[in-house]
Amino acid sequence: MSTTAPTDTMAPWKGVDLDDPGAVLRHAVDLYHPRLVLATSFSIEDNILAYLLAKIRTDVRVVSLDTGRLPEETYECAERMRQAYGLTIEWYHPEAADVEALIREKGAFSFRESVENRKECCRIRKVLPLRRALAGAEAWITGLRAEQSVTRSSLHVVEVDEANGGILKLSPLVNWTYEQAWDYTRKHRIPYNRLYDLGYTSIGCAPCTRAIRPGEDQRAGRWWWENPEHKECGLHPVNYQI
Ligand code: ADX
Ligand code: SF4
Repeated sequence: MSTTAPTDTMAPWKGVDLDDPGAVLRHAVDLYHPRLVLATSFSIEDNILAYLLAKIRTDVRVVSLDTGRLPEETYECAERMRQAYGLTIEWYHPEAADVEALIREKGAFSFRESVENRKECCRIRKVLPLRRALAGAEAWITGLRAEQSVTRSSLHVVEVDEANGGILKLSPLVNWTYEQAWDYTRKHRIPYNRLYDLGYTSIGCAPCTRAIRPGEDQRAGRWWWENPEHKECGLHPVNYQI
């Protein structure tokens, strides 16, 4: 559950139209650049945010976590985004010693064996690299949408990210639907990950993401062997709302 954030954190956002992603990003750039980071997995949501940011300025930090298990299509999409909008993508990798120890002790597919093992892999390959990427940042931007899952239904555009040192976490598309994101992508001809053409509705690591079947929800293709309440990798624990 969200709790109320300290009032001094809310003050700089008074009067900003939080339903307008462009306005949120412009304000964020004014307030925090160069201590502002877009975290992208090259999903349609993240590509929309990169497109909007590049219209404001092309030197905003754009970070992607290369878990070592990403699908080829994601690197191709990253390259198209880099070329289309003149972005510099900062790739962050897990600590080699952590991955070497994990694979040596538990094999290359330990994440299938238990939720605990899966979270351990996500921690090594995503959560800890994100922490390094956010060192010194005052705010980070994500493509989270409330509609995506039960675990995200109470999300807010501006939150305090306690898990990452109390910096701000901005999710400008939080109230968008999947259809809205696609309409915007098509209208502005924003490059998108080819995996969507194969039935994927979310973009993640290759062994942990699959296309969905008709009638399944948008995140059914992530960690499909787990219960829906567990489907977070640790990048997005519950935060203070603003
Ligand atoms: S996850 O927690 O299940 O992995 P999801 O894939 O829905 O997250 O993505 C939600 C947001 O987290 C993305 O919009 C993006 O901001 C961030 N994110 C997820 N994966 C990555 C990644 N590999 N690199 C950078 N940011 C990521
Ligand atoms: Fe590991 Fe799968 Fe998490 Fe990727 S999504 S970090 S492969 S458990």
